[in-house]
Amino acid sequence: MALNRAMIFLGPPGAGKGTQANRAAKRYGVPHLSTGDMLREAVAQGTELGRLAKPLMERGELVPDNIVMGMVEERLARPDSAQGFIFDGFPRTVPQAEQLDKIMVRRGLGKPLVVEFHVSSETLLHRVSGRWTCSVGGETYNIYERPPKVPGICDVDGGKLIQRTDDSADIVRERLAAYDRKTKPLADYYRQHGVLETVDGSKGVEEVSRALNEIFARAAGRDGHL
Ligand code: AP5
Repeated sequence: MALNRAMIFLGPPGAGKGTQANRAAKRYGVPHLSTGDMLREAVAQGTELGRLAKPLMERGELVPDNIVMGMVEERLARPDSAQGFIFDGFPRTVPQAEQLDKIMVRRGLGKPLVVEFHVSSETLLHRVSGRWTCSVGGETYNIYERPPKVPGICDVDGGKLIQRTDDSADIVRERLAAYDRKTKPLADYYRQHGVLETVDGSKGVEEVSRALNEIFARAAGRDGHL
């Protein structure tokens, strides 16, 4: 069954959006589009966009909507997203969501399916403090919950594992505050549009995946496409 829509994973830092988006993208054969990963790549490459985004990301603030929208539109123009895609970390403000709606109409794609991840602040802080990411393929580990077989080395491609510079406790608190101020209102926006689902993101990775698959199956039964 074709995905033919945008799936949006909404949730605070450390909620497990990236982990689940990666799994779901493989399952449904569509791209996993993380605006955080795109911005980190721009920073690493030292592009103009990266130079603009770097200080904001280091402070845990959001990057301005116009910059993010330009980046997303450019990414969606690639042929691999013609059959749908999974967004992780986007949209993050109501204006971003409104602009995405217009893009979806232009592309003739159905309504998005939005899943909000619920996780306590205590669990979020614990997860983020234990996160290590592969510097080559981007696979994510957690030293408490899902450690690599060899410390510091990715199980998948042998890449070196690194910690994100914005994962320090004080910056994570800033990111959580930005989430509460600017991103949480999106849940109401999508609820009013009748497309919001929620998942208990505090469960284990497999259990959350199963819950998401049930949500996708229910949506497919309702709309005829996922
Ligand atoms: P971004 O990269 O999007 O970060 P985030 O939204 O803060 O989310 P995280 O990547 O921290 O968490 P996650 O939910 O993906 O969790 P993960 O799966 O890794 O954004 C970074 C910055 O970029 C922003 O602060 C902003 O400046 C900028 N930005 C990005 N998008 C933007 C936009 N649209 N507009 C404006 N600015 C933007 O899991 C976390 C850890 O927990 C991992 O170690 C993982 O292994 C573990 N884990 C995951 N699931 C489970 C589970 N079920 N049980 C136990 N452990 C788990």
